[in-house]
Amino acid sequence: TNGTDRELRAPICCILGHVDAGKTKLLDCIRRSNVQGGEAGGITQQIGATYLPVENIRKRTSLKAEATIKVPGLLVIDTPGHQSFSNMRLRGSSLCDIAVVAVDITRGLEKQTIESLDLLKHRNVRFIVALNKVDRLYGWKTCPNAPIAKALKNQSDDVQKEFKWRVTEVVTQLKGSGFNSALYYENKKVKEVVNIVPTSSVSGEGIPDLLLLLVRWVPEIMMERLTYVNTVECTVLEVNEDKDFGTTIDVVLINGALRRGDRIVVCTKQGPVTTNIRYLLTPYPMKELKVKGVYKQHEELKAAQGIKIAVRGLQHAIAGTALIVVKPGNDLERAEAAAVQE
Ligand code: GTP
Ligand code: MG
Ligand code: NA
Repeated sequence: TNGTDRELRAPICCILGHVDAGKTKLLDCIRRSNVQGGEAGGITQQIGATYLPVENIRKRTSLKAEATIKVPGLLVIDTPGHQSFSNMRLRGSSLCDIAVVAVDITRGLEKQTIESLDLLKHRNVRFIVALNKVDRLYGWKTCPNAPIAKALKNQSDDVQKEFKWRVTEVVTQLKGSGFNSALYYENKKVKEVVNIVPTSSVSGEGIPDLLLLLVRWVPEIMMERLTYVNTVECTVLEVNEDKDFGTTIDVVLINGALRRGDRIVVCTKQGPVTTNIRYLLTPYPMKELKVKGVYKQHEELKAAQGIKIAVRGLQHAIAGTALIVVKPGNDLERAEAAAVQE
């Protein structure tokens, strides 16, 4: 097919990188939120998920009104950079379609940057480097939310010089990790060479560029993979207790649809447990799933989405395992065996 009649789902984008590279702040800049400011010690300790509808993304880009975006939005997974949370980086990178590796331009590649790159290489996940904190280059003139080319034009020769050598340094370091890379607007071999996008999570330079790569370029390179299919593919992120809804599990629905009342099997520390979806909840668009807030109730949700599911009997569900739907007439034992296998 030529791709025009396909229904594409939202790409799932996982943000990885060393502690304090600015991953959460990057998302805050896009959401216009302050999740990072509410974190204990400014350190992310939980995996997060935020749905960005295409209308909101469009407003942040320089895209002409008639230009099409083929995906309905973007599901972004925030991960912690602290060394002790490698399990969450593994979880995030296992379920994503594309990753963004945040690198602090003033520090270059650091320990967990390299760990993240190894993870992506091992799992064969494509990624974009967000070369963050460009506003910290000495003498940088702020151009709020400007495309990076425009922001760079406004800088003095000294800033441009510093920018160039720091980019060169990161390109060399990436080469050391086994990746060829280039500034995305100079990249002539996008199939083999990793795109670098300079950004600032504080003043927003380069954010339009990053968003455009994610919603325009990513669907081009993985149209097949992003084609919506009915088969449910769903991973458990976290288990929580909610004062209104009781036990809830935060999940990422990668493909297919979930309905209120669906019979599901989830792995727990006591083995597979079969239960029903009591409530199907999401935060409002642009809001972080893990931050307590107001939830919307749904009868049905289609992938890709970050979802909070209210359930009984799943207090001991295991994060990172698959949620399986048992259709009427399906063999429950087989579903349970499948849940354990994954
Ligand atoms: P962890 O989740 O703990 O791994 O950190 P993180 O990568 O999410 O970084 P975070 O968003 O917590 O930002 C770390 C610090 O860097 C905060 O003080 C931010 O305000 C600051 N910061 C992040 N991005 C930028 C940026 O683009 N420019 C400047 N000047 N500061 C930034
Ligand atoms: Mg963070
Ligand atoms: Na941090």
